[in-house]
Amino acid sequence: MLVAVLPDADAVSRQAATLVAGLLTRKPDCVLGLATGASPRGLYQDLVRRHREDGLDFSRATTVNLDEYLEIPADHPASCRSYMAAHLFSQVNLAPRNIVMPDSQPAGELTAYCAALEQRIAAAGGIDLQILGIGLNGHLGFNEPGSSLGSRCRIVRLTDTTRTANRGNFPDGEVPTAAITLGLGTIAEARRLLLLATGAAKAEMVAAALEGPVTAGLPASLLQMHRDVVVLLDPAAAARLTRLDHYAAGLEMVRRLTPERLA
Ligand code: GLP
Repeated sequence: MLVAVLPDADAVSRQAATLVAGLLTRKPDCVLGLATGASPRGLYQDLVRRHREDGLDFSRATTVNLDEYLEIPADHPASCRSYMAAHLFSQVNLAPRNIVMPDSQPAGELTAYCAALEQRIAAAGGIDLQILGIGLNGHLGFNEPGSSLGSRCRIVRLTDTTRTANRGNFPDGEVPTAAITLGLGTIAEARRLLLLATGAAKAEMVAAALEGPVTAGLPASLLQMHRDVVVLLDPAAAARLTRLDHYAAGLEMVRRLTPERLA
C-alpha cells in the first residue's frame, strides 16, 4: 500500500490526475472505475484541464461507475449520472458507448441487470484503476457496513448515516433508500485501487480502514487485502494514522527505485 500525505486537497487532485493521465497515456483503451462525491471532483476538473490544454485523449477508454441511487429519474440533479455528466462526460472525448453507468431505473429483473453490468466490465477487460472515496461510515461505493467482502454488483439499502450525509444533494430532502452498487468483490478485482480522502471528518475512518482490522463492518478495510493500492490524503484526513513516518519513507523509496509506479 502506498500512502501519500500531500499538502492540500488540490495536491491530492493533481496527483490523482497524474496517475489517471499516466494510465490513459500508457494504455489508451484502459478501463477507469469512477466514483462520485466531493472527493474526486478536483480530480475530474484536473483531467478536463489536461484534456483541453494537453490533449489528454479519452476516445478509446471505457469508464465504469461504482454506483447509482435507485428510483429517481436519470436526470435528477443528485443522480450519479448527472454528476458525471457535469464533471466529466460532457467535457472530455469519451465515446458514449464506452460509458458504463448503473441505471437509476433499470428495466427488467434487477438481479439479471446487475449480472449484466458485471459482464460488461469483464467484456471490457476488467477495471484497470478504480477511483474511490470513503464514506463517513467507511463505505466504498454504496457498500455499507456489513457488506460481504466478496459481494458483487447488487441492490442495497442505504444506511441513515449515508442518507443524512448525502441529504444536501437532494433539494427536497428526499434521499432514496435503495441504490445499486458494484460489490466489494467487484472492486477488489480492479488492478489498482486509488483512494482519495480529504478533510478532518474522514480522519477516523481512514485510520480504521488502513490500520485497523479487516472487517465487513468497515468496507474500506478491504484495501488491506489488495495487491496495488494508492491512498492520497491531505494532512487533515491523515491526522489519525499512526505509521506516517513509515508511509513517507516508503513513498520516498518508491520515488527513487520505481518512480513509474507514481507516474
Ligand atoms: C457516497 C458515494 C461514494 C463516495 C462516498 C464519499 O455516498 N456513494 O461512492 O465515495 O459517499 O463521498 P464524498 O467524497 O462526498 O465524501
